[in-house]
Amino acid sequence: VRPLDLHGKRVLVTAGPTREKIDPVRYITNHASGKMGYAIAEAARDRGAEVVLVSGPTALKKPDGVRFVAVESVQEMFDAVMEHLPKSDIVVKSAAVSDYRPKTVHAHKMKKGDGPLVLELDKAPDILKTIGERKTTQFVVGFAAETQDLIKHAKSKVERKNLDMIVANNVLAEGAGMGSDTNVVTLLTRAGEQVDLEKLSKREVADKLFDAVLLKLSERPLS
Ligand code: C5P
Repeated sequence: VRPLDLHGKRVLVTAGPTREKIDPVRYITNHASGKMGYAIAEAARDRGAEVVLVSGPTALKKPDGVRFVAVESVQEMFDAVMEHLPKSDIVVKSAAVSDYRPKTVHAHKMKKGDGPLVLELDKAPDILKTIGERKTTQFVVGFAAETQDLIKHAKSKVERKNLDMIVANNVLAEGAGMGSDTNVVTLLTRAGEQVDLEKLSKREVADKLFDAVLLKLSERPLS
């Protein structure tokens, strides 16, 4: 059991997938279960933090003792995050946010035609990038789920999105990624430090993450 070392800290966590409507009965989403983000929210709560959990649709039980904000679309998640950002000390963006969304949302169920259907997608707003632009004193942690060139992509994301730390995971690795109860991740800091964690439960990953965040907030190097 860890001490209440996040007491007095306000932690904003995002979790789960997003859902982008195509028409009233169809949407675009991904395989995110929300397990990683919920484990992060619970770890922060158990270590004494005041937690806001912004969650896309999941099958998980809402954790006790956190402020829970249910969202569906990227835009809803964006709005909820921007509302809570100024009052947060640590932001952990573990949600699997859609990069694209349908250009038009049809008001009625689309009818089947004879030929193929082309769905036009627009870029969705990048929540994490916007946090990186707006942040003042917040410590911001992003996630990088990749299937190739993991560390290279994660490092460039730290720069592009102005992050303090990133959690990189190869979602194709055994015991890692979406839906799994375990994860295999690498923590990378802005200063270029890198810690490869072994396969751990998502709760253990969450606790290691906060250990690393607290070390960085106290300006100590990671070991
Ligand atoms: O660039 P990429 O989408 O792979 O980066 C993943 C990270 O960015 C995650 O932390 C995710 O929550 C965040 N993200 C976001 N808004 C988006 C896309 C990704 O906040 N539209």
